[in-house]
Amino acid sequence: MIEEEFKAKKKKSVVSAHATEENEVFENKLRPKDFENYIGQAEVKGNLRVFCQAAKKRKEPLDHILFYGPPGLGKTTLAMILANELGTNLRITSGPALEKPGDIAAILTNLQPNDLLFIDEIHRLRSTVEEILYTAMEDFAIDIVVGKGPSARTMRLNVPKFTLVGATTKASMLAGPLRDRFGHVERLRFYESDEIQSIIERSANLLNIEIDSLAAAQLSKSSRRTPRIANRLLRRMRDFAEIRHQGIITEKVVREGLKSLSIDGRGLDHADQMYLQILHEKFRGGPVGLSTMAAAMSEDENTIEDMIEPFLIREGLLQKTPRGRMAAGESFGKAGKMGKLI
Ligand code: ADE
Repeated sequence: MIEEEFKAKKKKSVVSAHATEENEVFENKLRPKDFENYIGQAEVKGNLRVFCQAAKKRKEPLDHILFYGPPGLGKTTLAMILANELGTNLRITSGPALEKPGDIAAILTNLQPNDLLFIDEIHRLRSTVEEILYTAMEDFAIDIVVGKGPSARTMRLNVPKFTLVGATTKASMLAGPLRDRFGHVERLRFYESDEIQSIIERSANLLNIEIDSLAAAQLSKSSRRTPRIANRLLRRMRDFAEIRHQGIITEKVVREGLKSLSIDGRGLDHADQMYLQILHEKFRGGPVGLSTMAAAMSEDENTIEDMIEPFLIREGLLQKTPRGRMAAGESFGKAGKMGKLI
């Protein structure tokens, strides 16, 4: 496949775990509003329930919480559930959206007591903004600079007691002082297949989509154990069922639909297949460095590290070794077969 075609396909890959605008409205409709309806992440859910009850009992704000883990696993949904359970407002922003100290100061000074402030991609905060957060998190006060030049002075402003809910896909990129200020750190894990199947069935029910349980089970296996991907695939399968069949998603529809989208039975898409093919054919299974892989795929290193490799590693198809990336498990055979697909 030529590079441009590959790039265009990858950006809109249906199995990308990153949120898209198109998907957002639909995702919001499906988000569970309480812990009862939230499937999976039993440990995290159990902890959060206790923290919520304790905070409510003491009539205090919840301690600051950091959620970390791969994209699409429910960090935003859990923040929304927390606000719902605590009966507080939720203010949502993100690391890259907070450009200047004034941006975070404006948000903090407008919070109501006990509100939740959700900062997505918190590892991407600028250091000047991060510094404001340190005192806000610890003392519920911010230091702002008034005036310029030699007459400039700092003024301490109190802000309402609030809970910061941070979310990151890269906990290791968070500055130590920021990480240390979170009272709770919760790691979200990939879901089990049966949990994804239940999520697909719940979503189908909410959207009035008919899907039989064998089809839901099959679709769950291609969803990369990620609810966001499962829900997106469900929507695509509905299109195939409505246009080519009688509207019901059956195993046959799933098989045909996934084939049309070039997604294999374990959720590998074009980018993954191309990665394995290059690793196998150009580099004889490795070891090969990230920058070399990136150049061979005409892709930037971050995209490869964040979006392609984690899933391949988890599936046992790739290993990161001190000498470089190496094909693992069945990936040799897989890459060989995939050559025809790409
Ligand atoms: N939709 C997306 N994630 C979900 C979850 N964890 N439980 C139920 N529905 C969901």
